[in-house]
Amino acid sequence: MSNVGICGAGLIGASWAVGFASNSYNVFVYDSNHDILSNFFKTVDQLADDLKIFKNVDLNELKSNIKICDDLREICQDSLIIQESIVEDLEEKQKIFSELEKHSSIDTILASSSSYLLPSKISENLKNKQRCMVAHPALPPHVVPFVEICPSSETSFEVIEAAKKIYKNANYVPIVLKKEIEGFVLNRLQGALLNEAVRLHEEGYASIDDIDISLKHALGIRWAFLGPFEIMDLNAPGGIGDSFTRYRSGIKKLAQQQNSVPQYTDEYIKRLETEQRKRLKLTNREERTKKRNKLIALVRKLKLEQGE
Ligand SMILES: NC(=O)c1ccc[n+]([C@@H]2O[C@H](COP(=O)([O-])OP(=O)(O)OC[C@H]3O[C@@H](n4cnc5c(N)ncnc54)[C@H](O)[C@@H]3O)[C@@H](O)[C@H]2O)c1
Repeated sequence: MSNVGICGAGLIGASWAVGFASNSYNVFVYDSNHDILSNFFKTVDQLADDLKIFKNVDLNELKSNIKICDDLREICQDSLIIQESIVEDLEEKQKIFSELEKHSSIDTILASSSSYLLPSKISENLKNKQRCMVAHPALPPHVVPFVEICPSSETSFEVIEAAKKIYKNANYVPIVLKKEIEGFVLNRLQGALLNEAVRLHEEGYASIDDIDISLKHALGIRWAFLGPFEIMDLNAPGGIGDSFTRYRSGIKKLAQQQNSVPQYTDEYIKRLETEQRKRLKLTNREERTKKRNKLIALVRKLKLEQGE
């Protein structure tokens, strides 16, 4: 069995731990907050319920694959990869990467779960930058099988290949960026959509309810199994070229109107929060999170059954 280190065991770190442990990796978990560690197996129980929807899970075996560590050095020993998942703060990430470099073997891959930060910045102060990368998951990575590897120009080809193999063995679908860019692929796509949702709402074109409906009852259903380029291939009888030829003037016109930057002012966020609280209670957020995980797991099950 191979060792994986998890550094930071919050929302993402805990979910990664379950994702790796349920695929026979030996997972060593460290967090600077001891409360997180003492409650960790309770979190594992909850997350494992989602996994059971689409795969056979032996909970005792899964738990026996996880070891809680009080010292950062323990997760560094003999790990194939360390999945750093601490707060999204460049200075904190740089500090923890220096620690991880100091205590781990030169063969250990150092991967950050960062959502936006460039791997060249995270690894800026390291001696061996060739073993560093961002490996950004999609929430929650115990049920969503995606990881995007963003290397810096210093990350070695061998390290990228080795990381791909590790993630594939844990049943993830890795993609590899050809060069680094903030937000990588996933959050750039998500950000473009979020910015447009905010523009439509802020400028009074549609309610937050109706914008959400457009996603969950239309685009989202297709997007569970088709990407934008695959969709365009089915939008006109001649395929993608035919689709873009027919619709490009409309698409281009929208792009020209979509280039303003929403300011996300305190005033707007307050307004958004007031409208949101009228339709969704903060008190049942945990329940809604569980429902989200369950429905994602059911979609995953359906896709697996269909060979996707
Ligand atoms: N939440 C998301 O949707 C999401 C999705 C993909 C990637 N990410 C990225 O994953 C990372 C973690 O995000 P999260 O949502 O799990 O945050 P979180 O706040 O839930 O968890 C962060 C954990 O790191 C621990 N921590 C902080 N500093 C530490 C240190 N120096 N050493 C060890 N542990 C430390 C904290 O105690 C906490 O448990 C961030 O970089 C974030 O951008 C988040």
